[in-house]
Parts: sequence; C-alpha cells; structure tokens
Amino acid sequence: LENGLMRTPPMGWLAWERFRCNTDCKIDPQNCISERLFMDMADRLADDGWKELGYVYVNIDDCWMAKQRDASGQLVPDPERFPRGIKALADYVHSRGLKMGIYGDLGTYTCGGYPGTTLDQIEQDALTFAHWGVDMLKLDGCYSSEDEQAQGYPRMTKALNMTGRPIAYSCSWPAYQGGLPPKVNYTLLGNICNLWRNYGDIQDSWDSVLAILDWYSENQDVLQAVAGPGHWNDPDMLIIGNFGLSFEQSRSQMALWTVLAAPLLMSNDLRMLSQSAKEILQNKLMIKINQDPLGIQGRMILKEKSHIEVFLRPLSHSASALVFFSRRTDMPYRYTTSLARLNFTENAVYEAQDVYSGNIISGLAPEHNFTVIVNPSGVVMWYLYPTIQLKKG
Ligand code: DGJ
Repeated sequence: LENGLMRTPPMGWLAWERFRCNTDCKIDPQNCISERLFMDMADRLADDGWKELGYVYVNIDDCWMAKQRDASGQLVPDPERFPRGIKALADYVHSRGLKMGIYGDLGTYTCGGYPGTTLDQIEQDALTFAHWGVDMLKLDGCYSSEDEQAQGYPRMTKALNMTGRPIAYSCSWPAYQGGLPPKVNYTLLGNICNLWRNYGDIQDSWDSVLAILDWYSENQDVLQAVAGPGHWNDPDMLIIGNFGLSFEQSRSQMALWTVLAAPLLMSNDLRMLSQSAKEILQNKLMIKINQDPLGIQGRMILKEKSHIEVFLRPLSHSASALVFFSRRTDMPYRYTTSLARLNFTENAVYEAQDVYSGNIISGLAPEHNFTVIVNPSGVVMWYLYPTIQLKKG
C-alpha cells in the first residue's frame, strides 16, 4: 500500500502470542490485557535500547474492547482494564517516542468474541482509531463471509485514507483464504495493505516456527515476488524470549525472519527477557539486514541431503545475507560448499561477516571451498559483500 508507511518491515511489539486473551486483572494484574501492560511495554521499548534500533510499535491485539459498543455505536475499551481510554494510552506511547497499534476484526465478532466491525461500521471505526491517535491497525477476519471480506478489506483502506491520519494497515484477509492464489489476489493486497498474514498463528513452539517456515519455502515463488517496500508478507510474531525455543532455535527464528524480510514484531515479556534473547533481538547487523532499503524478500536456494538448507536475501550495495540452517538433530555439522555452488557467478572476491559471532571471513573467491559449522536446529548467518572485482577473461 503506497501510503508512505512501512518502506521497510515494521518493528515493535505485539501482545497476542504471549498474552493472548488474558482479561483477568484480579488474579493476574501484571499480565492481563490492560493499559498497564502496554505502558509497561512502552517503557521497556523506550528505556532498554529497543526504540533506537527501530522497535517502535506497541501493538494491542484482541480482547481490549468492552463487550458492547456504546450508545452511539462507537467501539470502546473495557472500562476496567483501560480506565483512561485508548487516546490517553496512545498519548502515553507517543510521549515515549513510540507508535501505537490497535486491533479490529472485519466481521460480527473478533475471534475472541468482542465487537467486530461490520461493513457499515468501517468508516466509523476508522475515524475512531484516527481520533484516538492510532498509528497502525491489524484487521482480523473472524466471523465474516468471503464476500464481506472482499468488500471490507479494500473499504477499510479507503476509510483509513479518508481520516487523513497516516495509519499502517495489516490485513489478515489472506490467512482466511488459505494464503495462496487463485483465491488470494496478491496484486490487490499489495495495493490495499502494508502487510498481511497468510498462514496460521504462531504458537510458542519450534514445531510452529518450522511449520510456518516450511509453508513459506514451499510457496516462495508466489510469496517472494509480492513483497517489497510498503507491502510485506507477515509470517507472524517473533517468539524469542518465551518458553518454546532453545537458544539455537531463537537465533534461527531471528535469522530466517530477517531473510524473509518479515516484520519484527516481538510477542514476549520485555520486563523479563534473558540477556541472550535480548542480544539476539538487538543484533545491529541483523536489524540492518532486515531493514535493507531494497526490501527484497529472500528465499531458500538449496536444500541439501545433509538436511542443511541455504537461504539467500539480496541486499543493497551488491551485498547478500546468507543463512545456513540445520534441520539436523545430532551434532554440529561441518557443511562445506563454495559461493559458486550458491550461484555466485561474479568474478569477484568476497568477504563475509558472521552476523552472530562478528567474525570476518575474507578471501572468498567463488570456486574456493569453505566450511561452516552449523548446530542442530541452528544457523550460521553471513553478511556477504564483494571486495575485489577480478578482471574478466
Ligand atoms: C487470529 C489472529 O491470526 C491472531 O494473530 C490473533 O489476532 C487472534 N486472532 C486474536 O483473537
């Protein structure tokens, strides 16, 4: 969507995977969906070095609303959990130098059973969000028909535009259409949405990460082509810092989402992150790669019998990101290959920086074999760039 927003994939925090529809603030005041949770996360993003790296969105998901609209038909937050209202919360988020995202659902109800946005309520809800000072909308698609979705998603684009406030727009539409053409029209989506979910929800498990990755790889011919500045595929939230991923798996999710040019929307508890999770999520070279201005989505280029998969993302200044990913479950694997084998045909000598260790590997001529040691369910990730252009002939 050419609204000037999200020229690189969005970065920030989104409540759903970690905090779900926990509305019991009596029993669990720290973790329930309430203004306190979002203010806490805004404080962490602002104070713990996230904001400076680009993690600026504080995004609400389902279960923020009161069970009914008010007398004028307007959406209202749950008065007990958001006593000061969403505008005050957005003001707070802005005062911390961050942006505020909100959630709605095109349909009769949200997936969690809160008031949805029916076709005739689209303009009103867009105005409400704009009036509150919201910067991003995730529009879910529970409880609506195919026909309502086909009308409603583009209509919301227009309604948001009419408010005059720049509001980034995340569409769950393709996730409700099976994610693939011919049902999904990615040309249309790219025109009306800044990002879109097209596969199932991430859960706090490695299996879930792999299922998403596999679907993205299987369908990469379709998916790679449709991503770019202002319009991104969204394989769903980063779960690094939660319970389901080991250290290696956490590094893998970060590296793979980065080559996929995915949004970096963390769903974790920023108040209690381990140092290692924080280091993975705050890796500067990783973020630079994710935010590369060309905005080209990467893809799997090789799947070896040894269960090593190689991913490549082209970057600006003739650089590339390479990810060597091990699906092995035995021991660190010594993978030997060459740039020529990875389709580097330029007559040049390359240098690489290992994104996690920081080590520099130099003198990489295309025909020259090199070996990387990849841990089980882990990655080695390189930022690769040509140094010397060799004479032709
Ligand atoms: C389905 C979406 O895909 C999830 O990300 C989350 O928003 C839930 N609905 C909320 O009910």
